[in-house]
Amino acid sequence: MTLSSVVIVGAGQAGYQTAASLRQLGFAGRITLLSDEDELPYQRPPLSKAYLLGQLDERRLLHRQEKWYADQGVTLLCDAAVAIDRAGHAVTTASGASVPYDHLVLATGAHNRPLPVPGAELGGVFGMRVKADADALAPLLGAGARVIVVGAGFIGLEFASVAAKLGASVHVVEVADRPMARALSAETAAFFRAAHERWGTTFDFGAGLARIDGADGRVGGVTTSDGRALPADLVVYGIGVVPNTALAEAAELAVANGIVVDERLLTADPDVSALGDAVSFPCAQLGGAPMRLESVQNAADQARHVAARLLGRADVYGALPWFWSEQGDLNLQIAGLSLGCDRVVDLAGVGENEKAVLCFRGGVLVAVETVNRPADHMAARRMLAGHPELTVAEAEASGFDLTAWERAHALATAG
Ligand code: APR
Repeated sequence: MTLSSVVIVGAGQAGYQTAASLRQLGFAGRITLLSDEDELPYQRPPLSKAYLLGQLDERRLLHRQEKWYADQGVTLLCDAAVAIDRAGHAVTTASGASVPYDHLVLATGAHNRPLPVPGAELGGVFGMRVKADADALAPLLGAGARVIVVGAGFIGLEFASVAAKLGASVHVVEVADRPMARALSAETAAFFRAAHERWGTTFDFGAGLARIDGADGRVGGVTTSDGRALPADLVVYGIGVVPNTALAEAAELAVANGIVVDERLLTADPDVSALGDAVSFPCAQLGGAPMRLESVQNAADQARHVAARLLGRADVYGALPWFWSEQGDLNLQIAGLSLGCDRVVDLAGVGENEKAVLCFRGGVLVAVETVNRPADHMAARRMLAGHPELTVAEAEASGFDLTAWERAHALATAG
């Protein structure tokens, strides 16, 4: 059957990109994008970085200006989807509308894991996920503000570096024993901890919050899990996210740490695809094991894939995962997945304020973490997209240069 209408639920990176790619690839049917935010679709990464610092205005935060939607014939409805009628091929929205589809794409994303302590409802406590969070926080930051950050993950540390730069006094409370433990080697984590400490941020590792203390409905301080009272004007938490699966679950689609899809990013219903932060998919880099990834790359590449597949031009999804973060003057880039890595080679001899760490699993290179070394990152992405034959011994040899190795190897392969 030729598709005449695609409905996309969620207008984050994955939803927006699905609409854009469908048009780029020549889809001529109806595209409806349902958003639960009252905004034109925007990029989330700058919210905890340049946008919060005031270095990026609202217009540049948008994926596209309003005119693009009209020009491209993409109908953006700021009206949340509340139910899916799979038998009737229609989505019901919060305003009571019924939007029919030939194919449905669920790009529902994720929401912040709520801070599970008393006092989390007080004024001055913020998550950092949507534009409204950044808009509310920005005017409160500045010299003298006492900020407690809960969680030393990507969001917590990006925010901490901005707050420190704006003159706030920043203290980070993290339950693990190092920053970004979920995603980074101990070597790169230690490098980031030292940088944040240089910028004036202090840390409590192995500690959580027992409660947030306040008066008159506003934050006044926090009490840590080991009983210390710390003063605070603001508490910002980034303690992970939870995939938005309720809509899929109610429609009796399988959910297991995300909406379950196959290697084509299709649910068990051939007329429903799902992608981005919300899905658990068989990950090619993990031998097909189920994985849920939270990244712009994953959302955008999966969106391009679904658009191409709907037009009969793609089958199995297998793009290489990569990630980035910006903290102060450090640009962290991660190529590949370091899950299960059993050997780390920390390249010596890289420049000051730079880092390159190679992660191996069973003698095979699986991920490369770099800081301020974009050429190495791009070389790593090219290597990891194939079957890199780099050995631990080669990487450990003195003077090893990742970019040069990749170039020589690529030339050798081409020749
Ligand atoms: N108290 C203190 N720290 C906690 C607590 C708690 N109660 N619970 C969890 N943490 C810590 C975790 O140990 C982890 O270091 O919070 C951190 C959360 O880090 P991430 O999982 O990276 O999540 P977050 O920083 O919230 O980012 C959410 O948004 O942009 C994306 O890439 C980002 O995928 C990530 C997502």
